[in-house]
Amino acid sequence: MALEKTLAIFGYPLGHTMSPTMHNAAAEALGLPYHFLAYEVRPENIEAAFRGSLAMGFGGLCITIPHKLAIHDLVDELSEDARIMGAVNVVTFDSGGKTTGHNTDGIGWLRSLEEETGETPRDKRCMIIGAGGAARAVAVKLAQSGAAHIEIRNRTAEKADALARFIEEKIPGARTAGGGLGDIASAAADYEIIVNTTSQGMKGDPAREAATPLDAEAIPEGAICTDAVYNPVDTTFLKGAKSRGARTVSGVGWFVNQGAAAWELWTGTKMPTDLIRNRVFEALGAA
Ligand code: ATR
Repeated sequence: MALEKTLAIFGYPLGHTMSPTMHNAAAEALGLPYHFLAYEVRPENIEAAFRGSLAMGFGGLCITIPHKLAIHDLVDELSEDARIMGAVNVVTFDSGGKTTGHNTDGIGWLRSLEEETGETPRDKRCMIIGAGGAARAVAVKLAQSGAAHIEIRNRTAEKADALARFIEEKIPGARTAGGGLGDIASAAADYEIIVNTTSQGMKGDPAREAATPLDAEAIPEGAICTDAVYNPVDTTFLKGAKSRGARTVSGVGWFVNQGAAAWELWTGTKMPTDLIRNRVFEALGAA
């Protein structure tokens, strides 16, 4: 029997991660000899952990907060998305020991949009709320997909402005603007795709879970609203969107598709995303 290969996620703190559930379910469904483990790796140990995983013949890595920039500087090569986004969330090891850093956050978001709505961002007016790593990944994909306009709004307006300029510099032809949250309700009226990348709505703290980055009344009826938050599946933002008749894409679809892209890079096989999405829903108690 083939020796089982270890796949792992490195983060700190890791808290609750659904990555082992997702990837172990994929290994089981496909009958492939992989086992996925979660490791809390302190920032001061990330280089040792990275080199150790290579030395021990791991099948690949997922990288999460706060290591996405450190790993970007440690790998031998970068995929185009990892280079543009300046951050790595997936590592592959080839048989000669070469390490490559990838970023599947953006493509995962784009595939979840296409899978669940049949739409693409081409010629659409898009708003991103938040200006961190997830926002950057989505903004890059929107620009590459030919969005008509990318509006980035963030609590700290300067970060939104900086991300908007970054996208225009990196992707020629992109049309962006940045700003704060002050007039977000009136600004939102103009948008066809609205993406939350902030932690508003996330389980853990009741006030945060009840919060939404955009009040229901401000959500345009025909919009598509997508959320990075996947626990709970039905966030306050997405509930508000549904109450307005807008279409919604939950964070589970995004999470599964960024994982599916990683899985394909590691194993060369397609993750059965419908089945895995249901397994993640079950594990979240939302089946
Ligand atoms: P990620 O890599 O997942 O995008 P991040 O880089 O920590 O995470 O970004 C978190 C985003 O959520 C930021 O845009 C943050 O806004 P600031 O730049 O002003 O910090 C946003 N965010 C976090 N808590 C928020 C809150 N209570 N209200 C509004 N925005 C919030």
